[in-house]
Amino acid sequence: MMRYYYCRIVVVFFFFIWIKDLFGRAEASPVEFLPGFDGPLPFHLETGYIGVDEGENVELFYYFVRSSSSSNGNDDPLILWLVGGPGCSGLSALLYEIGPLFIDKGEDEGLPKLSLNPYAWTKLTNIIFLDLPVGTGFSYAKTLNAAHSTGSQSCHQAYQFLRKWLIDHPEFASNPFYIGGSSYTGMTVPFIARLISDGNEAGVEPRINIKGYVLGNGATFPDEGNYKIPFAHGMGLISDELYESLMQTCEGNYVNVDSSNHPCLDNLDTFHQLVDDLSGEQILDPTCERIDSRSSRNGHRVLYNEERICTKKCYTYRHQYVPIWANNPSVQEALHIREGSIVGLWERCNRSLPYTNGTWDSTPIHAYLSTKGYRSLIYSGDHDMVMPFLSTQAWIRSLNYSIMDEWRQWLVRGQIAGYTRTYANNMTFATVKGGAHVAPESNPEECFAMFERWISYKPL
Ligand SMILES: *[C@@H]1O[C@H](CO)[C@@H](O)[C@H](O)[C@H]1NC(C)=O
Ligand SMILES: *[C@@H]1O[C@H](CO)[C@@H](O)[C@H](O)[C@H]1NC(C)=O
Ligand SMILES: *[C@@H]1O[C@H](CO)[C@@H](O)[C@H](O)[C@H]1NC(C)=O
Ligand SMILES: *[C@@H]1O[C@H](CO)[C@@H](O)[C@H](O)[C@H]1NC(C)=O
Repeated sequence: MMRYYYCRIVVVFFFFIWIKDLFGRAEASPVEFLPGFDGPLPFHLETGYIGVDEGENVELFYYFVRSSSSSNGNDDPLILWLVGGPGCSGLSALLYEIGPLFIDKGEDEGLPKLSLNPYAWTKLTNIIFLDLPVGTGFSYAKTLNAAHSTGSQSCHQAYQFLRKWLIDHPEFASNPFYIGGSSYTGMTVPFIARLISDGNEAGVEPRINIKGYVLGNGATFPDEGNYKIPFAHGMGLISDELYESLMQTCEGNYVNVDSSNHPCLDNLDTFHQLVDDLSGEQILDPTCERIDSRSSRNGHRVLYNEERICTKKCYTYRHQYVPIWANNPSVQEALHIREGSIVGLWERCNRSLPYTNGTWDSTPIHAYLSTKGYRSLIYSGDHDMVMPFLSTQAWIRSLNYSIMDEWRQWLVRGQIAGYTRTYANNMTFATVKGGAHVAPESNPEECFAMFERWISYKPL
């Protein structure tokens, strides 16, 4: 009798372990109020952790915002959105890029204020903003070993995260799925899309209803930095003579220059003297980012003192308010941050991440994904010198896709918002005129219109 009883307990125990493993750890918590925002949030926000990797030693943190479209609500596409860096938090996208909120200065240097973003992509789609790789934002590791990751490891972790998330949220299992991001995620977004596609073909459950991907000013191939020079020349930042001399002395290679090639290195010095005091992310701006990163290293009190330098003239001026907000204990409580999970100050971008960049060439991955029929929207803020539109056009051109809709203007409120071209392989390319490295941040209205048309299968 005792033995039978004991067995039953053991069976029940293992049953619960199995259930827990099968369904992940349902740690999703709704967030109804956020410090800095007046009243209850008029949209559905949920945060949570999902344990991935061996022994679930990597806890990935996410913010999930449900689509607020009144028409088809939960049937809207589901998007997994990543922020670049590597090491920049999903909170960046949530608070000043495509998310439902805008952050701004608080009164009397107090807690920053939040307001609604009229151009939120969450008006059209359900979006998961993920802190990836481990060590980014509120994602953390439970062991020293698990704190290290590489480009491909983090992609596998994202794929595992997504499967567990869908098991926890079965109501989204059949929604059209897209993955997107900007900047560094030009490495990871196509890679994860391929993992999903291959997983689906191999019968991995749950099947993910992937339709395509979105990339803005994405890093795509090694030596992409070579395109900065022709960009700077075309934008009138360097002289014809310097440009010609650079081409002759460096022979088109400006990234890994041989240390004995002094003529080329001297020309590059001159180039840097000419451009280093403007923002690479938006060549019309002064160097705001430099102030932003210096501030986050020194802690958050310094930031307001710097504000007179980094004013609203810079499209990145909102960045400085994010760490002030996210380090506030009432904010962390509202977001259901686990106690002790963050050591020291939270940073918008973790610059000391023990992470090995993915440095592969994403071009063949794009080619592979197009053979599977996935849709893609590739856009370029055309005033970004970090990942200039020239390098994006170069890798697209190398794919030899045939052109369906020839280079033309696309309009918002009757004005040219940029130029676009579509390809036979379901790829849409668009420039965002005047746009920065993160175009939805610098040109929110135009990017919202672009996304709205593309996600509903309309021409731009
Ligand atoms: C950056 O990542 C490392 C590794 O996960 C972590 O130890 C460190 O605390 C992180 N820094 C911040 C500010 O989150
Ligand atoms: C990783 O990639 C980012 C963005 O492309 C770049 O700024 C950074 O220098 C790279 N880090 C390493 C270690 O290669
Ligand atoms: C483009 O996408 C549509 C809709 O997703 C799909 O039916 C079609 O097969 C794709 N085209 C190509 C050439 O893959
Ligand atoms: C595109 O065309 C060029 C020139 O014909 C060729 O060298 C290259 O391999 C092609 N690229 C792809 C991806 O097919």
